[in-house]
Amino acid sequence: GTVLQETKYRTIYQARKGELQSLRRMAKDDPWKPIYHIHPPYGLMNDPNGLSYFNGYYHVFYQWYPFGAIHGMKHWAHVRSKDLVHWERMPVALVPTEWYESHGAFSGTALEKDGQLHLYYTGNVKFDEANRSANQCLAIMDPAFRIHKYKRNPLIKGTPKGYTGHVRDPKVFKKDGLFYMFLGAQRNDLTGTLLVYESQDAIGWEFKGELQVEGWSKGRMWECPDFFWLNGKDVLILSLQGVEKNEHNYHNVYNVIYLVGELDLARLSFKVDYCRELDKGFDFYAPQTFADPQGRRVLFAWAGSGEVAYPTDPHGWAHCLTLPRELILDGTKLKQKPIGELVRLREQGLTVAGQLEKGEKAVINGDDAFELNVRFTEIAADRFGIRFCQSDREEVTLLFDKRKAVVTLDRSQCAHRFGEQFGTVRSEELPIGDDVSVRIFVDRSVVEIFLQDGEVAFTSRVFPLGESRGITLFADGKLDFHVEKYALAR
Ligand code: FRU
Repeated sequence: GTVLQETKYRTIYQARKGELQSLRRMAKDDPWKPIYHIHPPYGLMNDPNGLSYFNGYYHVFYQWYPFGAIHGMKHWAHVRSKDLVHWERMPVALVPTEWYESHGAFSGTALEKDGQLHLYYTGNVKFDEANRSANQCLAIMDPAFRIHKYKRNPLIKGTPKGYTGHVRDPKVFKKDGLFYMFLGAQRNDLTGTLLVYESQDAIGWEFKGELQVEGWSKGRMWECPDFFWLNGKDVLILSLQGVEKNEHNYHNVYNVIYLVGELDLARLSFKVDYCRELDKGFDFYAPQTFADPQGRRVLFAWAGSGEVAYPTDPHGWAHCLTLPRELILDGTKLKQKPIGELVRLREQGLTVAGQLEKGEKAVINGDDAFELNVRFTEIAADRFGIRFCQSDREEVTLLFDKRKAVVTLDRSQCAHRFGEQFGTVRSEELPIGDDVSVRIFVDRSVVEIFLQDGEVAFTSRVFPLGESRGITLFADGKLDFHVEKYALAR
């Protein structure tokens, strides 16, 4: 068929003279640009791709549209790091120049094989607004970090019978001497599923069928599957379109769940023991994980959301990734902990401890990039919490309600509100005893909150006014608090 031609389907090679330089200049000094979170120089970032440790460096690739804050022709951009903290920009990794990726190099994974990093991704092909196809492709990065596309691409041409053009986001892994590829997919009846391919050499792939996920069937499209072993269990992460909200769950336009259970590749089944939303914040999607050299399971996600306009869109850039998080399986619960190396960002520290009585407040000065660790103990208060990114004109509130056993993040009092069509608060059930620990990372316009050692995480964007750097603890009754605050800088 004929493919859709639109200006948003241009590659950087088709940029006009000086165009990329002027895009870069426009986005460069935006005070909302994160300091220590991976973000695009200009244009739009979405999913993390190809997470890996290869030849002495951590590598993070990401979906990138260069020409503005919209979803258009996706490239793979590339950053690398020695320590998961300080990142260095690398040349653009994948520019979609070929027929099999005519409308973008979509998400995928990395797998080291024979001393080279294999990058699996989806070549997106659009015929018109409603019709598309997908090809599964390979690019190879050599030990000098040069990347070339595989000559006999695509590895898998088109999508199998019974499925729409929405088949994408290869997750490739090796088990018992064989390679497997999981693909997010949509059936012809517009329900979501996961497809399994098998390979002897990680080049030639045989379609095995659908993975029977016993215990989860919702969603009209499953995207960005991730799969790994942790602590003797199998874990599957799915990014889902089209799941209805209920109570505290699935309030974003697209939502992420994790499933802990048992994978049986011979029977193509995944038996689910436990299933839960992975992050309770407003801006979190398409997470991926990898095993690092110390054997840690490390996760990055897109700290963003589809179908939402963000305050930086007019400045020509959008979105960032989350911090790297170490995953820990505690029973059947996945805990997320900011990676230990982040302490390297710490500058001046401040410690405050004390007691609050009914209606009292403790005020601390913030920065635009900081880490805040708060422990509440001897909690006799019913409602208590933390306000931050605060001034006379706005605030973000994290509220603990002991009687309801609920924690709530409230962005309704921000000066720059966005995405309000999906609500202005997010919450989660949390049994509150007399000891609550909170870890908050603020990086100019991104906030990551970890409660009770990573049992609950909230990832959200907020776009504070320059003056809104206040932090306040509040309580409607007695409690003890201990606060540690660090300014963070690269
Ligand atoms: C998820 C996603 C993926 C796709 C990519 C395109 O955010 O829709 O399914 O590969 O983004 O940028």
